[in-house]
Amino acid sequence: MLTTVDHPLIQHKLSLMRDARTGVKEFRELAGEVSLLLAYEAMRDLELTSARFATPVVEGEFPVLGGKKLALVALLRAGLVMTEAITGLVPAAKVGHIGMYRDPQTLTPVTYYSKLPGDIAARQVFLTDPMLATGGSAVAALSTLKEAGAKQIKLMCILAAPEGVAAVREAHPDVPILTAALDDGLNDHGYIVPGLGDAGDRIYGTK
Ligand code: PRP
Ligand code: URA
Repeated sequence: MLTTVDHPLIQHKLSLMRDARTGVKEFRELAGEVSLLLAYEAMRDLELTSARFATPVVEGEFPVLGGKKLALVALLRAGLVMTEAITGLVPAAKVGHIGMYRDPQTLTPVTYYSKLPGDIAARQVFLTDPMLATGGSAVAALSTLKEAGAKQIKLMCILAAPEGVAAVREAHPDVPILTAALDDGLNDHGYIVPGLGDAGDRIYGTK
């Protein structure tokens, strides 16, 4: 399932991210803000239970999170800025990291690091990667998560191309995808069009 979270605040912030004049500091802040807004939607179906305690006025039953514990997994590098923002919202979530870069010639993902919570099988997992382009990185990262035992996974990205969505749907039909926008497609270098450029480079000021 693909959910495009087309809230006006997200769309406005995303347009600022797309603008080539936006500098590193602002881009990074915007990526964090968009991630928080995406997380609001991605976590809409978290289970609640109730807890009994007293407010300063009266005793009662009140809703508290009660379902599976959470794990945020950043696809390095660019996914890091997303998990860092979202941990502000769910500070008890465990955080995993999968390091992968896309070979610029073949566009295939190369894994260089993986460190995941040991109890990931028992957690609801949110994989963060701002760019779903060919889908190669996300498909490989989702396979890594499943090999580690993860069963319930959502993929959160800021921009998706139809090619990437199709690749994830084909390889991991059980994984819902949330994105701030579905763009037109990919150019000859595998960049999303209209896109926002290289997310990692724009977040970290590298080139
Ligand atoms: C970017 C991006 C995704 C990947 C998407 O990472 O952050 O992980 O490309 O492309 P794909 O869907 O075609 O696989 P990149 O390889 O540039 O690494 P970085 O995050 O370290 O900059
Ligand atoms: N990775 C990026 O950072 N940007 C794209 O447009 C495609 C892949």
